[in-house]
Amino acid sequence: MITNTELEYKGNLYPSKIVSYTHDVDSVYFYTDNSVILKLTVLRDSLIRFRYTTKGYFSNDFSYAIDESHSHGYNHLKVTEEEDYYQVTTNKVICKIQKADLRSFIYDLKGNVLLEDELGFHWEECYEFGGNIVKMSKTSREGECFYGLGDKATQMNLKGKRVENFATDQYAYQKDQDPLYKVVPFYIGLHNKQAYGIFFDNTFRTFFDFCQERRNVTSFWSDGGEMNYYFFYGPSMNDVVTSYTDLTGKPELPPLWALGYHQCKWSYYPESNVKEVAAKFRELQIPCDAIYLDIDYMEGFRCFTWNKEYFPDPKRMVSELSADGFKTIVIIDPGIKIDKEYWVYKEALANDYFCKRADGPYMKGKVWPGECNFPDYTNPEVREWWAGLFKELISDIGVKGVWNDMNEPAVMEVPNKTFPNDVRHNYDGNPCSHRKAHNIYGTQMARATYHGVKRFAYPKRPFIITRSAYSGAQRYTSSWTGDNVATWEHLWIANIQVQRMSISGMGFTGSDIGGFAEQPTGELYARWIQLGVFHPFCRTHSSGDHGNQEPWAFDEEVIDITRKFVNLRYQLLPYLYTMFWQYIEEGTPMLKPLVYFDQEDIQTHYRNDEFIFGNQILVCPILEPNALGRRMYIPRGEWYNYWTNCLVKGGKEMWVDTKFDEIPLFVKAGAIIPKYPVQQYVGELEFDELTLDVYYKEGKEKSVVYEDAQDGYDYKKGRFSFVTFQMTGKEKELNIQVHKEGKFDTNYSKYKINFIGLPFEVKTIEIDNVEITFDANELKENQYLIVPKDFNVLHIVG
Ligand code: NOJ
Repeated sequence: MITNTELEYKGNLYPSKIVSYTHDVDSVYFYTDNSVILKLTVLRDSLIRFRYTTKGYFSNDFSYAIDESHSHGYNHLKVTEEEDYYQVTTNKVICKIQKADLRSFIYDLKGNVLLEDELGFHWEECYEFGGNIVKMSKTSREGECFYGLGDKATQMNLKGKRVENFATDQYAYQKDQDPLYKVVPFYIGLHNKQAYGIFFDNTFRTFFDFCQERRNVTSFWSDGGEMNYYFFYGPSMNDVVTSYTDLTGKPELPPLWALGYHQCKWSYYPESNVKEVAAKFRELQIPCDAIYLDIDYMEGFRCFTWNKEYFPDPKRMVSELSADGFKTIVIIDPGIKIDKEYWVYKEALANDYFCKRADGPYMKGKVWPGECNFPDYTNPEVREWWAGLFKELISDIGVKGVWNDMNEPAVMEVPNKTFPNDVRHNYDGNPCSHRKAHNIYGTQMARATYHGVKRFAYPKRPFIITRSAYSGAQRYTSSWTGDNVATWEHLWIANIQVQRMSISGMGFTGSDIGGFAEQPTGELYARWIQLGVFHPFCRTHSSGDHGNQEPWAFDEEVIDITRKFVNLRYQLLPYLYTMFWQYIEEGTPMLKPLVYFDQEDIQTHYRNDEFIFGNQILVCPILEPNALGRRMYIPRGEWYNYWTNCLVKGGKEMWVDTKFDEIPLFVKAGAIIPKYPVQQYVGELEFDELTLDVYYKEGKEKSVVYEDAQDGYDYKKGRFSFVTFQMTGKEKELNIQVHKEGKFDTNYSKYKINFIGLPFEVKTIEIDNVEITFDANELKENQYLIVPKDFNVLHIVG
């Protein structure tokens, strides 16, 4: 760890001059006089990997984060030698490596600086553990902004901050507290309207300093391992993030029900309590798709067991819940109770699957069950065994999803809250200590869980949620932001964290709605649910210590607000599912902070609260008590107030009135928003119409709707429906062109088209060039039209 100003620090070592270089297909190796090698690999024209060693050779190249199926291949790669530097040119960037000191400088093709080494790569030898503390510093420019880095509970723009990445069980964390549960060593830099990204793929404890220590310097360093980072060129933030997400992987589609509302508490038990909660949702007509069993369903907190007193017949209970539309999700922790009579413990012991200390004993630590041992999920054989353990839960009992908790890994009653450094890990055949494996332990657990649940849920899709995660975990699991608190400040934090996770490749995330620790007031709960329904993962959870947190724990008004907003989420399911499709297909974040939405508008660079849900809905939560409105920034373009349908011109900060049962919501002019009817759970109703809310715009706007069977894998064989609506609005005309792809035919046969903001009275309507008869008065009154869905062009003239 660097404690004093780096420049003065005498322990630092630097590369000396380059003495030779070699070029081998996509990689160029630069060798220095003092045994440093820089291996520069061009993965794509806009994606370059920088890998350094100080030993004169590279160790085995292995990463848990990189997705094997990531796209690679470039159009152009040329290496030239100049007097003072070598130059590597691709179709997108020019990279100069300085002969005197191995420093690198990256430019766009016009010669604008994108990223420059300050001290560049340097290191400190680490006597205690061997290897190096590896460091990198870059020059930061006036006005440069920084975003990303996963779950950090601090302002969106990281300029002026130092952050630490070390997966930590941070109960009741506070604003600016660091480190937290997840580790995503990826950031986006934005300067002069050009964005680039850095992914420092190093699983040791890492640090990033964004001009905090020195005003013009950005640096990142690690307690061990290699200086190994990827540079992504934009110029848009969208290019950077989609490229990062491609490199570290995308998930498959979740079952649609997983995008419904989830209800959780520590803990619902016994069975009668679970049933009561489920029944109350139906009675109050608040949609809900999933109910969670926290640790008390187990026998003495032993994973893969049931407390038969509380849950005498889990299979029956799960199937009864399922008949009422509830999916049961159970928690599974990594700590396996040391108990000679316990089958999971016995199997792991017999096969030597637990993590060991350096001198041989198994790693022992206290968690809920008391003294535990912990499977080494970095061992592929252990992962395979772990996956197999889910057979009974999933195949026999019918559980639909698994919740992985405490996987930082958390250990109780010890000062560092986790394993000691000397614990050994297999690391997929690259044996190492916990210093290296700590940050990926949770991801490897979730990965093993995912493979198990997927195997036994087949042909249905699995659902996994994890607390700890490293870059790439999104391939296997969704996540939540851990043990937050029922305070207004935490509502602010949740809003930031979920947006930040979204642009860090891990979009399927939400917070514990209402707060985990302490008790929210009805008002806070209502404001939280109003935000939570716009988070990809939407679950109320609480520690249960301070009373109840089901909607009916609050007064009628709060119950009504909860119903109203959860209903809205269920109506927006096709829109949300389409966002998810764009995430898995293109790596596009489902939530877009304003800077991401319009990076050219510098007014967005320091915004925190407002975000774009998908591509066309602007959301701004109310984050204070007693608020009947707030100031917010409306991005450039034209936006309809969702509640009043009034049109506003963006590009300015303004006051927006709201009520207790509303938050500022705006829809982009030109958008066509698909809606389902409200259902109490996904698949409850069969319906014959898809509602399309058409927000008129003078000009053009494209909208898309993705649908499929809502579960299963047929979509991978082309059985999906992807409909593009191209709207063109003129003064007295509206034209909607429809283009359909995919082999899936939806169950409904009609569109119910709601016209919003039509500036003229409709005189004629043509479908595929044929004029249709319609009741002009009725259309005027109701502003909607029902038409068969299979048309190519709808043309309306006023
Ligand atoms: C800690 C988790 O963060 C929380 O969500 C859970 O309820 C408790 N562990 C008990 O399992």
